[in-house]
Amino acid sequence: MNVSKQELYAGRRAAAMDAMLAGGAGSVAVLAAAPVFIRNNDVEHDYRQDSDVFYLTGFDEPDSVMVLLADERKFVMFVRPRDPEREVWDGARAGVEGAVANFGAAEAFKISDFATELPKLLSNKSRLHYRLGRDRGFDERVLAGLEATRRRGRMGVSWPTEIVDPGAILHEMRMFKTSSELESMRAAAAITREAHERAMRATKPGMFEHEIEALLLETFRRGGSERVAYGSIVGSGPNATVLHYRSNNRKMESGDLLLIDAGCEYGYYASDVTRTFPVSGAFTAPQRAIYEVVLEAQIESIALTRAGQTLDDVHKKSVEVLTRGLLTLGLLKGDLVDLIAKEAYKPFYMHRTSHWLGMDVHDVGAYFIAGKHRPLAPGMVITVEPGIYIARDNASVAPEWRGIGVRIEDDILVTDGEPVNLTDGIPKTVGEIERACA
Ligand code: GLY
Ligand code: MN
Ligand code: MN
Repeated sequence: MNVSKQELYAGRRAAAMDAMLAGGAGSVAVLAAAPVFIRNNDVEHDYRQDSDVFYLTGFDEPDSVMVLLADERKFVMFVRPRDPEREVWDGARAGVEGAVANFGAAEAFKISDFATELPKLLSNKSRLHYRLGRDRGFDERVLAGLEATRRRGRMGVSWPTEIVDPGAILHEMRMFKTSSELESMRAAAAITREAHERAMRATKPGMFEHEIEALLLETFRRGGSERVAYGSIVGSGPNATVLHYRSNNRKMESGDLLLIDAGCEYGYYASDVTRTFPVSGAFTAPQRAIYEVVLEAQIESIALTRAGQTLDDVHKKSVEVLTRGLLTLGLLKGDLVDLIAKEAYKPFYMHRTSHWLGMDVHDVGAYFIAGKHRPLAPGMVITVEPGIYIARDNASVAPEWRGIGVRIEDDILVTDGEPVNLTDGIPKTVGEIERACA
């Protein structure tokens, strides 16, 4: 790892340790690498490091643990040792030496030494920052270390009497994107933009959804993205109304809309984009009417994505514009205020409008503070993704509306002024889309 990267991670660790000490002396944090998941028999799922561990170290190997000793301002790593024979099969490891030389650990141990070393690291500490309940197997190992430390009490050793969630510190840090993080998010956005544009140009009646999924993946990997940020949704016709549609195996027909919710990850940062466009290149009148309502909701909600507003304000704006549109088109009947109060839009719009975005597509960070919707602040990135989904068997609407699904999603950076659309420039108006599809 180059020096500037090392400094970047060291700076984050220093900030995390400052925050730990602000809660009192004797603070230690234990963070485990993501486990390897078996796919079937001896085949593993592609490995991706835990976002918190990567955020603080840039270390991407499994079977590792990092321990932050805030008082000593020290960082200790447990890693897989070098093993030339294994490395022939699995690739190079940093090893104990590399953890110190390249990743800034003050000391490093073999992961097999974790059980004997952990009680020493917990000795005479008062607070353990550890996320319980996420990995029960690893919980056991941490709790065993804690118990072994308690057993040293007779020798005058004290032990952590509090276990607190490190998310309170790390996830708060991760909410506010620095310029280097935004650089990665912009790179992810640029590759994702190209993928959506290519999909619009390539889609033709008679093609299968999976052909377009393949084109998205090819664009991501060719652009240098390491992986998708989440499984791509490529849903045509009535599949566009299935929120988490993943089969991507239907043959697309003229007259269908195609909803693509796909984004790549770049440098461990996600993009999350949805576009909906006609397979034949031209919207039908009902499709276009629905599309225009969703587009207006999205544009007005993005305009509200400003410091001081909340995700609930952004959501309420989408709900208002969508409900008014459904009323104007005759899909809902009654009084606007009443329909919103009764949540009459719910059969058509059943999800929220936004989530935090960052290293994780549904990124970490508190949505509420003291029970209240948290105000947006500069450096936060959110999605804005309203939609209208009319089930194909919705007998309460005229047949021409049934089976139409539209979502439009962009990634928006909150600043101290205007919102910045990181995924700007992907065709979005009816005119832009019909030109891109032509
Ligand atoms: N692609 C996941 C989401 O839009 O939240
Ligand atoms: Mn999203
Ligand atoms: Mn999405």
